[in-house]
Amino acid sequence: MSKSFDVVVIGGGPGGYIAAIRAAQLGLSTACIDEWKTADGKPAPGGTCTNVGCIPSKALLQSSENYDHAAHSFAEHGIQVKGLSVDVAQMQKRKDKVVKQNNDGILYLFKKNKVTFFHGRGSFLGGDAGGYQIAVAGKTEETITAKHVIVATGSNPRALPGTPFDNSLVLDNAGALAIPDVPKRLGVIGAGVIGLEMGSVWRRLGSDVQILEALPTFLGAADEAVAKEAAKVFKKQGLSIELGVKISKVTVKKNVTVEYADAAGTAQTATFDRLIVAIGRVPNTDGLESDAVGLALDQRGFVTVDDECRTNLQNVWAVGDVVRGPMLAHKAEEEGVAVAQRIAGQYGHVDFNTVPWVIYTSPEIAWVGKTEQQLKTEGVEVRTGSFPFMANGRARALGDTTGFVKMIADAKTDRILGVHIIGPMASELISEAVVAMEFGASSEDIAMICHAHPSLSEATKEAALAVDNRTLNF
Ligand code: FAD
Ligand code: NAI
Repeated sequence: MSKSFDVVVIGGGPGGYIAAIRAAQLGLSTACIDEWKTADGKPAPGGTCTNVGCIPSKALLQSSENYDHAAHSFAEHGIQVKGLSVDVAQMQKRKDKVVKQNNDGILYLFKKNKVTFFHGRGSFLGGDAGGYQIAVAGKTEETITAKHVIVATGSNPRALPGTPFDNSLVLDNAGALAIPDVPKRLGVIGAGVIGLEMGSVWRRLGSDVQILEALPTFLGAADEAVAKEAAKVFKKQGLSIELGVKISKVTVKKNVTVEYADAAGTAQTATFDRLIVAIGRVPNTDGLESDAVGLALDQRGFVTVDDECRTNLQNVWAVGDVVRGPMLAHKAEEEGVAVAQRIAGQYGHVDFNTVPWVIYTSPEIAWVGKTEQQLKTEGVEVRTGSFPFMANGRARALGDTTGFVKMIADAKTDRILGVHIIGPMASELISEAVVAMEFGASSEDIAMICHAHPSLSEATKEAALAVDNRTLNF
C-alpha cells in the first residue's frame, strides 16, 4: 500500500520546506520531496536559495568585503596588513561549509517537526480532489498519495538565446558562485540583482568587471534618488555599467567575445575570461508532469494561482518562484506558511505591499513600499524626507557614511507609503520600515519613537523628522 499524507510538498526550497514545517506543526501528516543533491549524491534541501542563491552569494559577498576592508580601510583604523592576498579556494571552501550547515539544518528541522523527507523527483501521476498520486523517483521509485499538494518547484536561470550555459566560461548563478580563481576580465550581462551582487564580489577581489544592461535606466525598480546614488558609488568602485545595450552575438572559444550595439547604436566588441549571464529567471515545472492532472500554467510557464496560492485544481496549491510575484525567498516562505495554515483551516496572511527588497552590494540597497516616481504616476500627493548617513554618528564611527534613508508619506494622512535606503546595513534597517508600514504607521509615529544612540536606525527617525522639515542633526 502506498504511503499517504495530508500534505505533500514538491520542492524543498524556502517556499517548500517552510510550508512543510508549518503544516507538520499544525498536526498534518506531511512529506516534502526535493531532488537537489550534492556532488556526491547526498540530499541538499534548501533549493536555489540555500545551494546557489541567497546563502552562498552572501557568504562570498562577506568574504570579498572583508578583503576589501583589509585592502582599503584597515590602514585608516591604524591596522597595518602586510602580504595581503586572496585565496579563492579557501573562500569557496568556507562558502560550501556555510551551505552545508544550512542543508543539514533543514534535514534536522524535518526530523524535529516529523516531516517525512523524500530525496528524488516528484511528479504527478493522477488523481483529483479526493487524493493525488505522486511518483517519487530517487534511489528507489515509489508512489505516495496526498490529500493536498503544494507545488514549490522554484525557478531556473534564463539563458541568452543561442548561448547556453556551460558553467565554465558562460556562467549562470551556480557557475558565478563557483569561479575557482579571480578572472582578469569578467563580463556580466544584466545589471539586475545578481549582476550587481556577483559583479561586486569579483570586482572587490580584483576583476575588471563590465556589466552590460539592455534597459536605458539603471535600477528602474528602485527609487530614482537611490538608483542615482548607487550608480555614482558603483562607478567609483570601478564597476563599469553600460546601459541601453543590445547584445548581438556571443562567441565562446578560449574566452568569451560579446558583440553588442551600445546606447548610441555603435557596434562594440568586448572579450572576457568569463561571462556571467544574469538576465532574470524562469519558473521551473520540469518533470512535474502537470499535464497528468491538468494543472494550469500561464503563457510564461508560471503555475496559475489566485491571491491565496490556489491553483485551478482543488487541494493543489503553489508557492514561491514558480508563481507570480517577486522571486524572493522571504516571499516564498510567507506564501508557504499561509498555504499550510489555509489547509489546516486557519487564516493565512501575506501582505504583498510590504515585501522588502534588498540588494546586498556595498553600500546595501533596501526598500519597501512604493517609489516616489510610482506615486507621482498614480497622482498621489506625497511629502518626502531624507537623511544622509554622513550626519549619523554611528555611520561615522563605522567609517561607512555613504547613502541615505528616504521616507515617503502621504501628504494628507502622513501614512508611510515607502522607505528607501542606500547605506550601511540597509538590509537590517529596512525591517523597522516594514513593521511600520504593516501597522499603518505615519512618519510622525517613527519620529516620536526613541531610537538607540548611536545607531544607524537614528537615520530612519531623522528621515521621518525630515518629512516634516524638522531634522535635528542635519
Ligand atoms: P527554489 O529555492 O528554487 O527551490 C525549489 C526546489 O524544488 C529545488 O530544490 C529544486 O531542486 C526542487 N524541485 C524542483 N522540481 C522538483 C521536482 N519535480 N521534484 C522534486 N524537487 C523538485 N532571494 C532573497 O530573498 N534574498 C536573496 O539574497 C537572494 N539571493 C539570491 C541570489 C541568487 C544568486 C539567486 C539565483 C537567487 C537569489 N534569491 C534571493 C532568490 C531566491 O533564491 C528564490 O526566490 C527562492 O529560492 C525561491 O524559493 P522556492 O522555494 O520558490 O524555489
Ligand atoms: P533581474 O530581473 O534582477 O535583472 C535582470 C536584468 O537583466 C534586468 O535589468 C534586465 O533588464 C536585464 N536584461 C534582460 N535581458 C537582457 C539582455 N538580453 N541583455 C542585457 N540585459 C538584459 O534578474 P537576475 O539578476 O537574473 O536575478 C533573478 C532574480 O533572483 C531577481 O529578480 C531576484 O528576484 C532574485 N535575486 C534576489 C536577490 C536579493 O534579494 N538580494 C539577489 C539575487 C537574485
